Amino acid sequence: MKKRFLSFTMAVCMLCLLALTSCSAAEVPASDRSLEAKPLAADATQTASFSDVPAGAWYADAIAYCQQHGIMSGTSTTTFEPEGTLTRAMLAAVLYRMSGSPTVSAPPAFTDTTADAWYSDAVSWAAGNSVISGYGGGTFGVNDPTTREQAVTILWRYAGNPESGTAVDVSDAASVSTWAQAAVRWADANGILEGMTENRQFAPKTNIKRGEIASMLYRYLNSSSQPEPAAGGKTLVAYFSATNTTRPLAEYAADILDADLYEIVPEVPYTDADLAYYTGGRADQEQNDSTARPAISGSVENMADYDVIFLGYPIWHGQAPRIISTFLESYDFTGKTIIPFCTSHSSGIGSSDTNLHALASGANWLAGRRFAGGTTRSTVEDWINKLALPQPETAVDAVTSATSKAGFNFETKSVTLNSGYEMPINGLGTYSLHGETCVNSVKSALASGVRLIDTASAYGNEEEVGQAVREAMAELGLQREEIFVITKIYPGSEMANPEQAIQACLDRLDLGYVDMMLLHHPDRNDVKAYRAMEKFVEDGRIRSLGLSNWYVEELEEFLPQVNITPALVQNEIHPYYQENDVIPYIQDLGLVVQGWYPLGGRGHTAELLGDGVISGIARAHGVSSAQVILRWNLQKGVVVIPGSSNPDHIKENTDLYGFALTDAEMAQINALDRNEKHDWY
Ligand SMILES: Cc1cc2nc3c(=O)[nH]c(=O)nc-3n(C[C@H](O)[C@H](O)[C@H](O)COP(=O)(O)O)c2cc1C
Repeated sequence: MKKRFLSFTMAVCMLCLLALTSCSAAEVPASDRSLEAKPLAADATQTASFSDVPAGAWYADAIAYCQQHGIMSGTSTTTFEPEGTLTRAMLAAVLYRMSGSPTVSAPPAFTDTTADAWYSDAVSWAAGNSVISGYGGGTFGVNDPTTREQAVTILWRYAGNPESGTAVDVSDAASVSTWAQAAVRWADANGILEGMTENRQFAPKTNIKRGEIASMLYRYLNSSSQPEPAAGGKTLVAYFSATNTTRPLAEYAADILDADLYEIVPEVPYTDADLAYYTGGRADQEQNDSTARPAISGSVENMADYDVIFLGYPIWHGQAPRIISTFLESYDFTGKTIIPFCTSHSSGIGSSDTNLHALASGANWLAGRRFAGGTTRSTVEDWINKLALPQPETAVDAVTSATSKAGFNFETKSVTLNSGYEMPINGLGTYSLHGETCVNSVKSALASGVRLIDTASAYGNEEEVGQAVREAMAELGLQREEIFVITKIYPGSEMANPEQAIQACLDRLDLGYVDMMLLHHPDRNDVKAYRAMEKFVEDGRIRSLGLSNWYVEELEEFLPQVNITPALVQNEIHPYYQENDVIPYIQDLGLVVQGWYPLGGRGHTAELLGDGVISGIARAHGVSSAQVILRWNLQKGVVVIPGSSNPDHIKENTDLYGFALTDAEMAQINALDRNEKHDWY
């Protein structure tokens, strides 16, 4: 019986719904209205002092930072209300600003939101980008308060669900909801919870306060916990300078960093009249028009070579000149680290840097800095030395350790399972291989260095797989321990009589023991069948256990009922069906993810291999589309078991360790997701 699939996001939303109490106030409270204000205007970006934020308060710096960067403002000109609570709409507004207030195409489609509400764009953006999802019943909960664990989870999603730490150093970790645990671990590991864990208590269910959210955002924006930066390439200092104030700073930076220098030169130069501000001249007009994109003369050669980009500009009416928008929209900055800096007459960097984020949201943005004209080289050097820049990596390291996701070791091409056994991370799937074809394919794979073979009782080929393994051991001089064989028992009569079904698999394979046995699908007898497999583990006839076609809801229900935590979950995963919500959930539980149909499955392989994005990346690396897809899986921490009876393809499918996909290429493939399942499971 197939259970209903429920995505992780939906699960989170439903849990949020249960955890939240609705705010009865129909009116927007005064503190909410403060968020209606647009990011602070040019000359108002200096810190105001708030009567309710004492200079020595633990969150004082954070509040000043958020205010200076136009992320949060006071509830009045003199108050910030650091102890005030934060509604979901307010949190959406704060994060929306942080991402640069990008244009949204449609108003939010929730029954409790209106198109003309102050939070409309922010809620639409937050829901559209899965930063804050609506509740199951079509509402967003605009006036609902946000608990600490919800706020941390929302920030974690904003950050792109990054890898989390291993443990939380708070005494009430056990009371953190399951859906928030990865986020809380991540926040704790990155110092984001600093100041919020008095007496080592995180108090996950307590409503978060405005001062606390300012602190979290400040620590997040100033930590290295933003999107995984690429490391190892060159550094570029790109700048625009209309009157030569920013230019020397850019030159200092390039010299200090040993970086390349690129001047953003307008195709039509700015005349003095153009630059005379508050005259309605060209510069004024451009700044008043958010769609203005002055053309740039020339371009950066080989932008792909740069991983770190310093971006310098003058402040024009509180923002970066529109030509900087032209620059950011001209290249793909995904995975690159961008560090904005500016000069101005008197304004701070304000919201100019955060507003630029929206134009290159896939980049890792470090906090920007404003300099006065005439700033010395040593001041620039001090600033650069304190930045958390990505550390260079050698090219060889990039290929072998392109990812340590899910504990994959690219040198040994294996992963250590939670059962203590080591399993290869690429193998051969034998679904649809039968008779002599199956024997030959398995032997061909073993001869090509493949050491992981996946079969199942339902495939009807366990005897052939066993025969091929035994023959290859004899012919190639392999030891049984060098080969990892996975099989599965099927729902229905097999799971109803599991001892018999398990023994039948062992008999058909005839390999002494099975490295791993999976339950092929959820079934009414799945717990009973798994418990039977546990007994076979106890006496050594099975070494590790796992599940196939299990998703979040099924895992949440299943795991508390068994004694041996499964080591692996095998699900359909390919670029058109990526399971981006399920994979991190499984990996965060310490389980290895394995993908079936990595090349799209029957009837879909040609389309997937011919996909323009994938074949383009393949050409760039001089490999096949299949190799790109398999490597993409490995870099996501997904074990691959492509099926093939063609010896050349089998060999090619093992040759995955001589190249690495860049973060930008990974992002391009990630963007192909269609949530399109190619089989019914
Ligand atoms: C159109 C325009 C608008 C400006 N707006 C501001 C502003 O809002 N705040 C400020 O402090 N300086 C403002 N300035 C001054 C410049 O930011 C400042 O002179 C800067 O250092 C010039 O850098 P550059 O010589 O590299 O172009 C503006 C200058 C221009 C031309």
